[in-house]
Amino acid sequence: MIARRQTLLALLGLWLAPRLGLAGGSGAEMPDGGPYVPTPQLVVERMLELAGVGPDDTVYDLGSGDGRLVIEAARRHGARGVGIERDALLVERSQAAAAEARVADRVRFIRGDIFEADLRRASVVTLYLLPAMMLHLSPKLRDELPAGARVVSHDFPLEDWPQERMVQFESEEKEQNLGTGATQLFLYRAPGPRPAETR
Ligand SMILES: C[S@@+](CC[C@H](N)C(=O)[O-])C[C@H]1O[C@@H](n2cnc3c(N)ncnc32)[C@H](O)[C@@H]1O
Repeated sequence: MIARRQTLLALLGLWLAPRLGLAGGSGAEMPDGGPYVPTPQLVVERMLELAGVGPDDTVYDLGSGDGRLVIEAARRHGARGVGIERDALLVERSQAAAAEARVADRVRFIRGDIFEADLRRASVVTLYLLPAMMLHLSPKLRDELPAGARVVSHDFPLEDWPQERMVQFESEEKEQNLGTGATQLFLYRAPGPRPAETR
């Protein structure tokens, strides 16, 4: 059932991409991470718990939408955070929400492309991105994240990484918005960058 839903979501991504005028991922082009679909608040909390986020962490959300993961990591867990988002309006909304939550001094939102981001200071990375993007992002995560950094992905796995944990549950909010509440979270641990000469 879940495998069928994953396939349907992946196909939806493939179908949406050309219609939204997005890169197809062939040649030198990078695939698109997908449209803005916010992670429900309950799922946000489960992702941060799964990563064991605490005050010593710096959480990067790649494709940060309205900033909810980064803001919640700071507000509830005392972490620092960085959101990378290409949509200027969402970045503005994130900054306003951070001020409202009184965490603006601990979080930063950068308008830009995920592939341009420097991930070397992240101790936790959160993701809710389409499968083709996950595939292209994998070597960047491996090459830039410090050893032991945790990566938590919502619904779409990093296919070539060994899973540390996987949890699945139903989200009522997702059911209402997407027509299915089935949710999977994947936890990974970064191995640390390989020496440049072996890449
Ligand atoms: C499914 S939404 C997830 C939003 C947020 N992370 C959350 O979980 O609520 C994906 C987000 O990634 C952004 N995005 C997709 N591709 C991107 C790219 N290459 N660079 C920056 N942002 C990107 C989209 O604009 C969108 O806001």
